[in-house]
Amino acid sequence: MSAPKYLAIVKKIEELIRSGQFPEGSQLPTHRELAQQWATTPITVAKAYKELAEKKLIESFVGRGSFVSNHSQLSDVIRAETSEQERNLSILQPCIHQHADRLNQVFSQILTHGNDVLYGYVEHTGLAQHRVMGAKWARQYGLKVDNENDVVLASGAQHALTTLIQLYTQPDDTIAVEALTYPGILSIANLLGRKVVSVTMDEQGMVPAALNDLCQNTPVAMVIVVPSHQNPTAATMSVERRQQLAAVVNQHQLWLVEDDIYGFLNPTPIAAICNFAPLHGFHITSLSKAISPGLRCGYIKAPSTESERLAAFIRSTLWLPSPITFAAAAVLIYTGEAFQIAKEQRQIAIHRQRLAAEYLAEFTLFHQPDSYHLWLVLPEHWQADAFTLVAKNRGILVSSASYFKADPLAVTPNAIRLSLMAIEDEKQFIAALALLVEILRNEKGLICVYS
Ligand SMILES: Cc1ncc(COP(=O)(O)O)c(C=O)c1O
Repeated sequence: MSAPKYLAIVKKIEELIRSGQFPEGSQLPTHRELAQQWATTPITVAKAYKELAEKKLIESFVGRGSFVSNHSQLSDVIRAETSEQERNLSILQPCIHQHADRLNQVFSQILTHGNDVLYGYVEHTGLAQHRVMGAKWARQYGLKVDNENDVVLASGAQHALTTLIQLYTQPDDTIAVEALTYPGILSIANLLGRKVVSVTMDEQGMVPAALNDLCQNTPVAMVIVVPSHQNPTAATMSVERRQQLAAVVNQHQLWLVEDDIYGFLNPTPIAAICNFAPLHGFHITSLSKAISPGLRCGYIKAPSTESERLAAFIRSTLWLPSPITFAAAAVLIYTGEAFQIAKEQRQIAIHRQRLAAEYLAEFTLFHQPDSYHLWLVLPEHWQADAFTLVAKNRGILVSSASYFKADPLAVTPNAIRLSLMAIEDEKQFIAALALLVEILRNEKGLICVYS
């Protein structure tokens, strides 16, 4: 007797997952669609999906569909390493080649003439001069720092986020985030068992009235926002919006985490939300986007009541971020070169945004003139995961809207995020844009995923 038909479908889908044709996190066709494609019945497909869900290979959500498991893993979205054939419009990082020589010089200077202190266990909150330089960096882009002792060093913004979530929330606590948010936050919350609640956004990011409504009905422990060049939508909050959000934070006495890692891209400094919520706000910044993610230099400005507790937690968990990289950062900030490099990166971003706007003129885009990324609304014949998959098969890495959804049950916007900076070579970047346009125009896009 031959095996039931649904098992043959299970096997076929397992193969497609294994071969990467259905990548982790991608959405599977509906029962009806697949039944039509593979000349079977929706009931048989449903049975196959049930079997795959039991094997934990896929996850099904009522009203939303079925997805290949592990869709919240950071590694799916943010891919640094690419093969030679792949063009990366996915990772948000600066054009490092521009200033790599200068970084090499600074490090060789430090390693040749450096102070032995850098090789030891320096003060657990980091050397005072490194914290002073962190304050200088953050002040330049709109943060008020009254006391440099409130600046604590972290190994990048991701470490800062993890630390604050771990220290200032408990398992099962609710963390409010923008409806579309940086997947690194979702990933931490997922791993640490915190509940994430999605808050409505508009063209300026999180809507304060929506946060207020949420706080009236639910105990919210923390709110996390990216106020400048929001990841993924590029929304940037005006000062008024920041003041309104701070008022809600103050009223409900929430912990605020303001991740302003892209603040240096604003044409003029915009006052930080933390300036208006000094008792509740933690401000995060880092040099990853302006200079180099490899430096792992992040800075947290804490409320004065919290800086010691925060430093003690970092001492217990990490001891201290490497003083060697902070020494390099301090040289660059002290001499003003860091600000110059940031300015140059912003100029590249402006140029790349112009090129992208030119090539993608026929599509709906959300961006700032100086963001590293843009949010592209796909033509109707495309679905975000399907497009991401097809683009990957054609050698272009982009990030599907599904990776950024705070609420997994929400409808996936028909959109993708494009990084305009990861491909350093301009010719390659233009070639990637041209290929992207070709794929976007492809009317048969959805079908070729399944067949
Ligand atoms: C909003 C946001 N926060 C934090 C990070 C992580 O930054 P870092 O490299 O400093 O850890 C990223 C990286 O993409 C980001 O977009």
